[in-house]
Amino acid sequence: MSGSIDVASLPDRLLAWFSTHARDLPWRRTRDPYRILVSETMLQQTQVDRVVPKYLAFLDAFPTLVDLAAAATADVIRYWAGLGYNRRAVNLQRSARMIVEQYGAVFPHEVTELRKLPGIGPYTAGAVACFAFEQDVVFLDTNIRRVLQRALVGPEQGITPSADRALLEQSAALLPPGQGWAWNQALMELGALVCRAANPSCWRCPLRNGCQAYAIRVAADQALVPTEPAGWKRAAERRTPYRSTEPFVGSRRWYRGRLITELRTLPPVTALSLEELGPRIRAGFSAADRPWLDELATALARDGLIVREGETVRLPD
Ligand code: ADE
Repeated sequence: MSGSIDVASLPDRLLAWFSTHARDLPWRRTRDPYRILVSETMLQQTQVDRVVPKYLAFLDAFPTLVDLAAAATADVIRYWAGLGYNRRAVNLQRSARMIVEQYGAVFPHEVTELRKLPGIGPYTAGAVACFAFEQDVVFLDTNIRRVLQRALVGPEQGITPSADRALLEQSAALLPPGQGWAWNQALMELGALVCRAANPSCWRCPLRNGCQAYAIRVAADQALVPTEPAGWKRAAERRTPYRSTEPFVGSRRWYRGRLITELRTLPPVTALSLEELGPRIRAGFSAADRPWLDELATALARDGLIVREGETVRLPD
């Protein structure tokens, strides 16, 4: 990659765009690491619009790390309803308990310490260090990866560890010192609002000049002009849009969710027998489905999402 003027001015252009286009999201108004961890955990697989009300309700119910650590896991799972991937809720509470017990309720600051918490990978550890403690650290999520890849390298290729390492190095080199918070938020925001996966709005992108992917696309198709709102559409239409090949309804994750939802509706501490549960979560449930249900319940119990006692299951205390 050349050290062209366009790359040199990329951070300024990005940060100027962010200062006028950023959405006012509740987790951008706080530096409380607990709140940041809650938001980042919720945002891992769920859209911003769906997360906002859940985030606010969750913090009403569990306003501090200590409150979350002391709560019944069943309640935490109940407040997670609608977000999916319930294991995230259990890991979040495990992290809170670990911070209370092992760190005297003082949130660790360093990425290496944060990585020791359950369910916290490089992305979440970096996000907490950056968004709560304002450290100049770099990390990738799907939006950040896509923006950096397109701007600095070219049209997306597959995700590989070496490609990620190179992007992280470039991100660290471009990050304006002392502005890690804005840098990472801005990359995410551009990926969410403009440099979208399927139909990017290059015509209003602050990084268009000097963007490698844009230059390549325009060179390949002179009909793509920067001022046309649907500028990328023709190229995008030629590609098969991304679609998950696995149907969600009827998948294992769907049945895991169904089982938890069924237990959530019961009064606290009520257990349900597997015999009663089967027909409630699977149409046409029969004796032949018992090994399947057994295995599903065992796996959920292993993940800490339910408690299994003999032939009955319930949400954890
Ligand atoms: N997705 C993950 N983290 C986010 C954040 N801090 N703001 C907006 N979207 C996000």
